[in-house]
Amino acid sequence: MAQQQENLIKIIILGSSNVGKTCILHRYFENEYSENSLSTIGIDFKTKYFKFDDTKIKVNYTDTAGQEKFKAIALNYLKGTDGAVLVFDVSNKETFSVIDSWYDDIKQNNKMDIGKILVGNKADIEDREVTETEGEELAKKLECKYFETSAKTGQNVQAALDEIAKITYLKWKVTKDSRHSIRISSAESVGKMTISEKKACCSSSS
Ligand code: GTP
Repeated sequence: MAQQQENLIKIIILGSSNVGKTCILHRYFENEYSENSLSTIGIDFKTKYFKFDDTKIKVNYTDTAGQEKFKAIALNYLKGTDGAVLVFDVSNKETFSVIDSWYDDIKQNNKMDIGKILVGNKADIEDREVTETEGEELAKKLECKYFETSAKTGQNVQAALDEIAKITYLKWKVTKDSRHSIRISSAESVGKMTISEKKACCSSSS
């Protein structure tokens, strides 16, 4: 029996080094946190299955390395991605300032309008350099939702990563449906041509 093709959605986690991308995924998938998280080298991904509209969807969450020397790998991976999580550290203004540049990278490396959310991580730290209002304002400018998370306490991690899967699925579905309807309408027009050709053939011969 032919195997059914899986519905796969790819989500990428982007942001400067040390903002907590790996810890966020670790909290989401293992419900654990480590103070001694190692810097990611290249990329790494984890998979979760969702059911949306009675459809089973496989979601790959890809962790990228924030270090500049690995940026080319992240950008290359962006090309085939369906959704993005833009992460900064609320206790480090510099990581917030470069979100615009990560956003430009998404636009330049992906032809589609992909699903995205903005995440301000390390919300457990009291000595902040970025306020919640600043985060909200940037999210408004980028036309996406804003979440304040803490991989350390677990605050909002599940809500944020579940939401990006849902947002991305909805965009993916529209694209998939429109591709499907283009295929159907072109098949119909081929069918019509055949019928009219047959009629022309029959009327000339009678
Ligand atoms: P790269 O792999 O270099 O891109 O870094 P990353 O963004 O994946 O950061 P990582 O998850 O490795 O975390 C970097 C450091 O921040 C680690 O020491 C973590 O323990 C710490 N950290 C991560 N999340 C939080 C958080 O929510 N709160 C606090 N206080 N520290 C955090």
